[in-house]
Formats: sequence, C-alpha cells, structure tokens
Amino acid sequence: MSEPIVLGIESTCDETAAAIVQGRTLRSNVVASSMNEHARYGGVIPEIASRAHAEAFVPVVGKALADAGLELSDVDAIAVSAGPGLAGCLAVGVSGAKALAYAANKPLYGVNHVIGHIAVTQLQFGPFPDDTLALIVSGGHTSLLHVRDVARHVDVVGTTLDDAAGECFDKVARLLGFPYPGGPHIDRHARLGDPRAIRVPQGLTQGKAAARHPYDFSFSGVKTAVARWIEEQRALGNEIPVDDVCASLADSVASVLAKKAINGCRRFDSRTLIVGGGFSANSQLRTKLAEVGEDNGVQVRIPRIGLCTDNGAMVAMLGVNLVEAGVGPSSPGFPIDSAMP
Ligand code: KG4
Ligand code: ZN
Repeated sequence: MSEPIVLGIESTCDETAAAIVQGRTLRSNVVASSMNEHARYGGVIPEIASRAHAEAFVPVVGKALADAGLELSDVDAIAVSAGPGLAGCLAVGVSGAKALAYAANKPLYGVNHVIGHIAVTQLQFGPFPDDTLALIVSGGHTSLLHVRDVARHVDVVGTTLDDAAGECFDKVARLLGFPYPGGPHIDRHARLGDPRAIRVPQGLTQGKAAARHPYDFSFSGVKTAVARWIEEQRALGNEIPVDDVCASLADSVASVLAKKAINGCRRFDSRTLIVGGGFSANSQLRTKLAEVGEDNGVQVRIPRIGLCTDNGAMVAMLGVNLVEAGVGPSSPGFPIDSAMP
C-alpha cells in the first residue's frame, strides 16, 4: 500500500470529528462541537455530549468523506479514538466506527487519543526524529511522553499528580465569571495584565516533592492559591484586577510546563519537542516554549490552533502510522478504553 487512506473518528469529549488523511496529507477535517450546550453548566455534561455525538456522527463522517471526494469503499482503514475519554461519548464513536467497518469490510483501529495529539504534528512538520519528547496539555491531560516510535513505543515520563493545566484554568475562569471553557478567556485577559502582579506558586518545582517528581506536574495548589487570593480581595471589598490575575496564573502554569518539558528534553537528549492538546493553543505557553526552545537548541513543534484542539485528523494520522507499521487492526469486539499503542 503506497499511501494509506484512513478515515479518523473522534468522540472522546465534546467534539464529534472526522477526517481523512492520506499518507501525511490532510484531505478533509470536519468538527462539530457540543461546547455551547455545556457552557451554562460550567463543564462538559457527559449525557448531553453523548446525545450530541449520536446526532452528529453520520453527518460529520459523511461530510468528511464528501469533502475529500471519497466513498467509504475508497478508504483503506478506519481509526477511532478508543480512550481515554468519557465512557458514553466513546461508546457512540466506537460503536459507530465498528458499524462502518463491518458494513464496508474495512480494518478498524482503536487508537489512543493522547498519542493522536502527538501524531497530528506530522501533518504540519513531517515525520518524527528517532527519539523525541512530547508535552500533551489539555482539559483532561498533562503529560510528558518519550516517543520512541509513535505506533509502538511511547513511555510516560511525567504526568499531573492532580489537576490538568486546562482544568486549572477552567476552574479559575469560573471563579472570575467566564463561561466554560474558560482557558481562552484567561489567555485573552492575561495578554493585558502584569504577570508579576500577584504571587502565584509554581507547582512541584521546589523542595523534596519536586526532587522526587522532576517531570511530574501539580496545578491544584496553584488553583487554590489564586482562588484564595480572589476570595480575600472580595472579602475586603476590593475590585478584582482580572487581567493581572489571569497574567499571573498564566505565567506560573506556562513557566512550569516549559521548564519541565525542556528539562525532559535534556534528560532524554531530545532536540525536538512535540506539543499538543487543547491547552497548547495558549499564547503564554507558546511564547515560553519558543523562548526555552531557542535558548536550549530544541525545535518546538506546536501545530496550528485547529490541530491542537480535539479533531479527527489526529486519529486518522495515528491510524496511518499503525497501518504503515503493520500494528493491529483491533479485534472486532474491542472495548472502549483499549486504545493502541
Ligand atoms: O484537548 P482539548 O480540546 O480537550 C480535552 O481533551 O480536554 O482541550 C480543552 C482544554 C480546555 O481546558 C480549554 O480551556 C483549554 O484546553 N484551552 C485553553 C486555550 N484554548 C483551549 N487554555 C488556555 N488558553 C487557550 N488559548
Ligand atoms: Zn484532547
């Protein structure tokens, strides 16, 4: 098979997405989001998201095929996110993908959503160097991964011990009165504020705990410190300097992520850092990573914003990697949360 054509399907959280990738070329990319339906609840409601997936699944897959000028019979394989994610959401995507694969007699690959965030960078930057480090930051994950072979061998170097970075932003954003997801609002206000206005701790960077967890993250203390400061100011009747709060929080979180990622690159002698996940859209993080990358001779590969947030292209791209590596396909009865690699 010269350049495999893979249909990728994503439904782990609030995006129903499908895309066609041929080799390293993105032929179509369709995303439907139920985000607006969750905004007033302050977070994703699994039941609402699952129903939205059931409604969007066929139209989204149909549009991805149509935009690429293809029929289902033209694809070589189907890939679907098989975790980690919300069970009801995964069930819709995985069941839908199984039905398509069965009806069209195509091999089906249940792929790992987090590794998909790494794989997608190939669409913009080409193949991976042999050993590379990846920082995946989203509402649900904050992980530092050592990528030996994206289809077969990815090791966890570090992870968050409590909240994910996006979750921390979303929770503070809620306190400041922003709708879900609050991350982009914090980003926007942080650009207008003074990052040194408020003292915000840098989680897990000092002391014995940091020495034991050099590549792990902790953002719940940061969130609590900011929340307490806001409460105190409100109790004193002071107006909250929203821009400064956002700038100080963003500076702390982005600094820790960038510092630990670069330390990881040094430890594994990696000249390349792959960055992915919804939070990698964050401008403070992008600036910090560009700075530390430049200072340390590390090429930082952050994809364009549309490929950072959840999409089908990441799933299709990882599907291509698995087809090319001869890994899989998944067994017909594979359960949700049985993702490869
Ligand atoms: O990867 P993603 O789309 O979904 C998950 O798998 O969680 O990431 C969503 C997360 C949310 O927490 C959202 O607030 C955050 O990414 N996010 C941002 C920005 N854009 C999205 N956080 C900070 N700054 C941004 N510009
Ligand atoms: Zn994601």
